[in-house]
Amino acid sequence: MDQVLRVLPQTSEHVKQLQQLCDTLLLDLWKPLLSEDIQAGEELHVRVPASSLQELKGSLNQHLISYEVLIRDVQEQLDSSMPRKGGSHWRVPEGYSYTVYHPIEEIYHWMYQIKESNSELVTQHYLGMTYENRPMYYLKISQPSNKAKKIIWMDCGIHAREWISPAFCQWFVKEILQNYKTDPKIKSFLQNLDVYILPVLNIDGYIYSWTTERLWRKSRSAHVNGTCFGTDLNRNFNCSWGSIGVSHNCSSLTFCGTGPESEPETKAVARFIEKRKSDVLCFLTIHSYGQYILTPYGYKTDLASNHQDLVEAAEKAAVALKEKHGTNFTVGPTSLVLYKNSGSSRDWAHMIGIPFSYTFELRDKGAYGFILPPDQIQPTCEETTIAVMTIIEYVNQKYFPNSAVAVTSGSLWLWLIVLFTQILS
Ligand code: ARG
Ligand code: ZN
Repeated sequence: MDQVLRVLPQTSEHVKQLQQLCDTLLLDLWKPLLSEDIQAGEELHVRVPASSLQELKGSLNQHLISYEVLIRDVQEQLDSSMPRKGGSHWRVPEGYSYTVYHPIEEIYHWMYQIKESNSELVTQHYLGMTYENRPMYYLKISQPSNKAKKIIWMDCGIHAREWISPAFCQWFVKEILQNYKTDPKIKSFLQNLDVYILPVLNIDGYIYSWTTERLWRKSRSAHVNGTCFGTDLNRNFNCSWGSIGVSHNCSSLTFCGTGPESEPETKAVARFIEKRKSDVLCFLTIHSYGQYILTPYGYKTDLASNHQDLVEAAEKAAVALKEKHGTNFTVGPTSLVLYKNSGSSRDWAHMIGIPFSYTFELRDKGAYGFILPPDQIQPTCEETTIAVMTIIEYVNQKYFPNSAVAVTSGSLWLWLIVLFTQILS
C-alpha cells in the first residue's frame, strides 16, 4: 500500500540522497513540492507508492536518515474521507451539508440554489471557460446601494486535491448569508465592500480528483501532443513567470505552463481582476495544507511596500483564529516562511496594485495533509471564517475609517433631536 512518510534530513549529504531518491523514484513530494527545495533540518513529507516503499525505506536506513510513517495506508485514508460513496448521507434532510466534500455537480447546483434563494444579496456571474469547456462562475455578495463599493476577491480550489478549500468557500458564503442581518461587523463591511467568491477555480482538475486520481493537483490541459497533462495554475500567472520554484517539464507537479496565462482558467481570473483592479482592495486565495497566512512575495525575498499592514492584519487574523480551536497559523512572506515560487496569483495581484493579497494554507500540518478527513471540515471552516472576517474588517476600517461610527453618531443625533422635540412639545 502507498504511504506518506515524514523524513528529517540532517546533513547536506542526507539532502543529496533524498533529492536523488525523489527524482529517480518520481515520488509525489507534498512538502516541499520540489526536490531542489529540500533542506537539512526541515522535515519533508512524501507519498511513496507501494512499489517503491521497500527500496526507499532501505535507502533511508542505509544512510541513517530518520523518518516515520505519517499515513500508513493512503488508500484507506482516501476511502474514509469519502464515506458518501455508496452511502446514503449525500444530503441531510434540512438541505445542503457543509460538512462533507461535494462533487462538482453538487457545487454547481448549490450556487444556483444560493443565488435563487438569496436574490436580495447574491448574484451569479460568468467568469470564463475551463480548458475542458466548463463554465466558471463566481458569486457576488452585494448589498443593494447606489454607492460605489470596493471589492474583496476570494478564490478556492486552484489546486485540485486541496478539497478543504472549495468546502471553505461554500461555508463562508453560508456564514455571510446566515449572519449579515444580525452581525454588526458583517453589516458594516457590506456597506462598503462587495465580496466576490469563486468556489472552484480549477474545475477540470477538481473533477479529475473525484473521478480518476484523488491526489491530482494541476489543471487538465494537454501538452506535448497529449503525452502529459496539467499546468500548475498557481505557477501560471504573469509575475516573473517561469523563473523560480517551477518546472518547465509538463509531467512535473509544478509545471508552470507554456507561457504566462497560457491556461484559460488563469486568463479568466486575471482578465477579470485586471479590469476591476482599482476597486479590488483584497485578494484571497485559499489552499491547503500547512497552516499559513502568506503575504507577497513568493518569487523574491523583497518585502511588499505595505508589508507592515499586511502582516498586522494577518497577525490579528491568526490570533482570532487560534481563539476558536487553538490552531496555530504562521504569518509571513511566502519566500521566507515557505518556499520561493514564481507565477502565483497572490504575487501577481499584489504586483498589479491590489494592496491586501494573501494565500491561506488551511489545516493541517501533515498528519493527513491533502486528505483532510471530513470531520475536520467544520472546525477548519469555523476558524478560517474568523480569520477571513478579521482581514476584511481590517480592510474595511482602513479604507472606510468612520463608516461604522458615522452611522451610529448620525442616528444618535437624530434620536436626540426627536427626543428634545418630544420633551418641548
Ligand atoms: N497548497 C500549496 C501548494 O500546493 C501547498 C504548500 C505548502 N504545503 C505543503 N505541504 N507543501 O502549492
Ligand atoms: Zn495549493
